[in-house]
Amino acid sequence: MRLLSLVALPILSRVAAAASFSPYTLDDVQGDISTYLNHNATQQARAVSNFGCDLACGFLAFTLPHTVAFRNSSIYDFQENRYWSQQQEFTRPTCRFSPTRAEDVSLAILTFRVTQCKFAVKSGGHGAFSGASNIQDGVTVDLIHLTDVKLSKDKKVASIGAGNTWYNVYEKLTPQNLTVVGGRVSPIGVGGLTLGGGISFFSARYGWACDNVHNYQVVLADGSIRDVHPKSCNKDLYWALRGGGNNFAVVTRLDLETYPQGDMWAGSQTYINTPETSKAINQAFEDFAIKSPEDDYAQIITAYAYAQTQGIYVIASDLQYGKPVANPPILQNFTAIPGAIMDTLRIVDLPSLTQEFNATNPYGFRKTYWTYTFKNSAALMDEIVAIYMEEVEKVKDAPGIVPSAVFQPITTSMTKHFAKNGGNPLGLEGQGPLTLVNIDISWTKISDDTRIFAAAQAIVDRSVAAAKARGLDHPYLYQNYASQKQDVFASYGEANLAKLRSISKKYDPDQVLQRLQPGYFKLH
Ligand SMILES: Cc1cc2nc3c(=O)[nH]c(=O)nc-3n(C[C@H](O)[C@H](O)[C@H](O)COP(=O)(O)OP(=O)(O)OC[C@H]3O[C@@H](n4cnc5c(N)ncnc54)[C@H](O)[C@@H]3O)c2cc1C
Ligand SMILES: *[C@@H]1O[C@H](CO)[C@@H](O)[C@H](O)[C@H]1NC(C)=O
Ligand SMILES: *[C@@H]1O[C@H](CO)[C@@H](O)[C@H](O)[C@H]1NC(C)=O
Ligand SMILES: *[C@@H]1O[C@H](CO)[C@@H](O)[C@H](O)[C@H]1NC(C)=O
Ligand SMILES: *[C@@H]1O[C@H](CO)[C@@H](O)[C@H](O)[C@H]1NC(C)=O
Ligand SMILES: *[C@@H]1O[C@H](CO)[C@@H](O)[C@H](O)[C@H]1NC(C)=O
Repeated sequence: MRLLSLVALPILSRVAAAASFSPYTLDDVQGDISTYLNHNATQQARAVSNFGCDLACGFLAFTLPHTVAFRNSSIYDFQENRYWSQQQEFTRPTCRFSPTRAEDVSLAILTFRVTQCKFAVKSGGHGAFSGASNIQDGVTVDLIHLTDVKLSKDKKVASIGAGNTWYNVYEKLTPQNLTVVGGRVSPIGVGGLTLGGGISFFSARYGWACDNVHNYQVVLADGSIRDVHPKSCNKDLYWALRGGGNNFAVVTRLDLETYPQGDMWAGSQTYINTPETSKAINQAFEDFAIKSPEDDYAQIITAYAYAQTQGIYVIASDLQYGKPVANPPILQNFTAIPGAIMDTLRIVDLPSLTQEFNATNPYGFRKTYWTYTFKNSAALMDEIVAIYMEEVEKVKDAPGIVPSAVFQPITTSMTKHFAKNGGNPLGLEGQGPLTLVNIDISWTKISDDTRIFAAAQAIVDRSVAAAKARGLDHPYLYQNYASQKQDVFASYGEANLAKLRSISKKYDPDQVLQRLQPGYFKLH
C-alpha cells in the first residue's frame, strides 16, 4: 500500500529547495496505480477502450484531491471556455488536471507513462489549432493555478508561474516601474509565448521573450524537477527551451529578467486600404526595418484586414514607442501618411495597451494562423498584399470572417540579442532585417473551414513563390504563428534540428513528450 507514502507530502516540501530533485519514481507510481486499480476498478471499467485515461484521471483525483475536473462539471466547462479558438474549445479531454505545484506535474507525467494516457499542456490557450493545448479523450494539464508573480529582493528577476497571462504579470510589475519581455495581448499565456520565441513591444531593446529567461523550473519526462539556466550543467536544455516549444519538459515557472519601464506612446492608426496608402505604408515599413537600430525604443506592426460589415479593406498601422514621447522621429514616416480614419496613439501604460489589443482579438471564433518570412522589401510587400486581397475575395462572404495579413520586421536590433546566454535554436542570430508575416483568419461556421484553410494556404504558397521569384525568400517559420501543416523545426536549419533531437533523447530517452503528448509541433 504505497498510497499512504504518496500523500506523505511534508517530506516533499523539505527537499523542494534543491535545484534538482525527484519527488516520485516511475516504480513507485506503477506500484500505487496497481494498488489503486485492485481496489477501485471493476472488470467492466477495465474493458472500456479509453481505460488508460479513465485510470489516470481516477488515480490523480484520488491522490491529489481537487486537482481533477471531469466532463460536464462546472470547473471543466469553465476551463474549456478559456481557449481562444473554437477548435480548441470544442476538443473534449477525458478530464482536466490542474496542478498547484511542480510536484503535482511530476506525479501526473509519471501517471501518464504508467497508464499510457495521452496528454496536452495548457498555459494561456492561444495556440489556434485543435490539439495545440487540449486533447480529445486524453488528459489536459491546465496550468491555470500556477499564477505566482514574485520579485526577487533586488527586483532584478521576476519568478512567474507558467500559467499566468501577461496581463496578470504586467499588472503586478507596472506599479514597480518594471517590466519583463513578454506578450502584447493581455490574455496570452506566459508558457506558450516564451517557449516559441515571444515578440514583445521591447524586443528591439532586449530580444525576444526566450532571450530574457534567467531560469526555467521544469519537470522532465522522468518526473524530476530541475532548474535550467545558462550556467547550469543542463545548459544544453536551456538552449533548447528557447524556441523548442513543448518538446523538452513541462515548464512550471519562469524566472524572467526585469527592466525599468514606465509609460509608453503607442496605439493604432487605421486607414482605408487604397493603393497610395498601402504603398506609402509599405515603404515606411521597409525604411523603418533598416533604421530600427538608430532608435530601438520603437516597434511597429502593420496589419492588413477586411471589414466585412463595411465591405472595405483597411490597414491598421500599430506604432509603439517605449518612452512617453509623442511622435518620435523614427516613427514620423508613418504618422506623416495622411488619411487615418481612426487614431488611438497616446501616452499609455503597458497593461492598458495589451487590453486595447485584446479587444481586437476576441474569443469564441473558428481560427487559423499561418506564417512565413522574407527579406525586407516594400515592393514584395505590395505584391503580397495584392495576393492576400485576391484570395480574400473568394471567401469574403463567409459569415463573420475577419481575414488579416500582419507584417512585422525582425530587425537586426532584435536578432543581435539572440546570442545572449549561449544563443537560441531559431537560426536567426545576427540576421535581418527580415519581414515576418502572420496570416490570421477568424470566422463563425464550421462549414466554411475547408475553403478558408484553402485560401490561407494559397496566400502562403503564392507569397512564398513571389518571394522566391525575387530571391527574397527565407526559410524561417515562427512557431507561435505557424499552422499545423508547417514544419517549424526544419525551418530552424539542419544543424539546429539535429541538436534539438539529440537534446530531446538525452533528457527524455523514452521520448515520452513526443509519443504521449502528440499535440503542437514535434521534433520528428
Ligand atoms: C490574440 C493573439 C495575440 C498574440 N500576440 C503575440 C505577441 O504579441 N507576441 C508573440 O510572440 N506571439 C503572439 N501570439 C502568438 C502566441 O505567442 C502563441 O499563440 C502562443 O502559443 C500562445 O501561448 P499560450 O500559452 O497562450 O498558448 P497555449 O495554447 O496554452 O500553449 C501553446 C503551446 O505551448 C505549450 N505550452 C504552454 N505552456 C507550456 C509549459 N508551461 N510547458 C510546456 N509546454 C507549454 C502548449 O502545450 C502548447 O503546445 C499571439 C497569439 C494570439 C492568438
Ligand atoms: C479507491 O480505493 C481506496 C482504497 O480502498 C478507497 O479509499 C477509495 O475511496 C476508492 N476511491 C474510489 C473513487 O472508488
Ligand atoms: C454531458 O452532458 C451531455 C449533455 O447534457 C450528455 O449528452 C453527456 O452524456 C454528458 N457526459 C458525461 C460524461 O456525463
Ligand atoms: C514609479 O515612477 C513614478 C513616476 O516617475 C514615481 O512617482 C513612483 O514613485 C515610482 N514607483 C516606484 C515603486 O518606484
Ligand atoms: C523616412 O523616409 C525617407 C524617404 O523614403 C527615408 O530616406 C528615411 O530613411 C526614412 N526614415 C526612417 C526613420 O524610416
Ligand atoms: C480579453 O477579452 C475577452 C473578450 O474577448 C475577455 O473575456 C477577457 O477577460 C479579456 N482578457 C483579459 C486578460 O483582459
